[in-house]
Amino acid sequence: MSKTATLEFNGKKYEFPVTEGTEQEIGIDIKKLRGEAGLITLDPGYKNTGSCESAITFLDGEKGVLRYRGYAIEDLAEKADFLEVAYLLIFGELPIKEQLEKFTKDIKEQSHVDEEMKKILDGFPKSAHPMGVLSSLTSALIAFNPSSVDVSSEEEMYKAIVKILGKFPVLAAWTLRKKNSLPLNYGDEDLGYVENLHKMMFEKPNKSYSVDKAVIDALDKLLILHADHEQNCSTSTVRMVGSSHAGLFASISAGISALWGPLHGGANQAVIEMLERIKEDGGDTHKFMQKAKDKEDPFRLMGFGHRVYKNFDPRAKIIKKSADEVLGQLGVEDPVLDIAKGLEKEALEDDYFVKRKLYPNVDFYSGIIYRALGIPVEMFTVMFALGRLPGWIAQWREMRLRKEPIGRPRQIYIGENLRDFKPLGSR
Ligand code: SDX
Repeated sequence: MSKTATLEFNGKKYEFPVTEGTEQEIGIDIKKLRGEAGLITLDPGYKNTGSCESAITFLDGEKGVLRYRGYAIEDLAEKADFLEVAYLLIFGELPIKEQLEKFTKDIKEQSHVDEEMKKILDGFPKSAHPMGVLSSLTSALIAFNPSSVDVSSEEEMYKAIVKILGKFPVLAAWTLRKKNSLPLNYGDEDLGYVENLHKMMFEKPNKSYSVDKAVIDALDKLLILHADHEQNCSTSTVRMVGSSHAGLFASISAGISALWGPLHGGANQAVIEMLERIKEDGGDTHKFMQKAKDKEDPFRLMGFGHRVYKNFDPRAKIIKKSADEVLGQLGVEDPVLDIAKGLEKEALEDDYFVKRKLYPNVDFYSGIIYRALGIPVEMFTVMFALGRLPGWIAQWREMRLRKEPIGRPRQIYIGENLRDFKPLGSR
């Protein structure tokens, strides 16, 4: 493989170094492009542009491969638990017993939230979308944890990391309890991370709490499957905000807002709303397939398509299998599962989708499991954020440790050229 790429422009040739990743991905290093050739690149949505070198997550979109720190997602989903995967993503290795015990203990010690935060939550109407509330509460945490801002040392960074991992599930549970008019609670330190989250979300003040192990196992697996996904929209947002040396909590608050969009993490809510709409409309999947292909129709098949995967999203395969298992274990019949399977079958045989390599993505089946677990649809993207939290942390930490420069893209200006000011009377 050649070590340089040549660009020819206006009769001049320019050589740029080529970098090759450990999975043979090749990138042209254009750091000197503008200085040497006076040119910039233009790539809306960064479809062909790498923002960084990263050792955290590897995706092969053509083959449908996903690995966290070299471990296959299929193995991690089956054999690890969420805090183990969080440790792996953030620190780069699967923890040994002592490391996992200390990590878990340090997180538990941070799982209280300042009582004053309840006043901020009180200010929101019950109708507020949980993602907007969660992003605001996450940013508000800074006021009560000012040291989480300047994390120049690894020790300070570790403290900020266990703080957000400890407090985020409380804030997420509180957003649900606020909507359900339930008193704000705290977890139970004797429970595991995921069971504690579930208890905070669902325990009732006047009832004893119990939960089916199948529910906790399903939640743990869903959180693992959402934990990281290299330079997606929300992670790139976390990196961008963190690149100005804004703190970890502020960067994650921005990531939550980016994840909220229906083209990104908000798709899991949009998928269920779409499936419900199809069910209410009589279940005619073919009619909605035609709408999805009609360029004049804004309707899109939510949960389908992906910027990177041009094959099955490996997470979608695992979640689809898990949906069948969990609904079977819980004895839940959900007609939208059959509608989803019908849509998937039809799309995989339809030339429009096949030609564009549009397959089900992580959001297509996840909502069906969340719903079977009793999680309301407006909380689906909060569940995505709970899963993605360690990935955002890992990517932010890597960016800061690698001392990446502040993110500041260029542009091609297409506005007015210089013109003289006209006084109001003469316009
Ligand atoms: C996530 O990046 C990540 O890794 C994200 C994520 C993560 O873990 O962080 O994987 C999580 O966000 C998954 C994606 C969830 N979003 C949805 O399910 C929303 C529906 N999907 C689409 O909006 C779309 O597929 C995107 C946004 C996911 C990807 O869009 P791209 O890469 O910009 O592709 P595109 O919009 O240019 O589409 C290419 C073609 C177009 O048709 P033509 O112009 O070529 O004729 O495919 C069509 C699109 O119209 N198309 C769809 C479609 N998705 C793409 N047509 C109908 N239904 C769809 N869902």
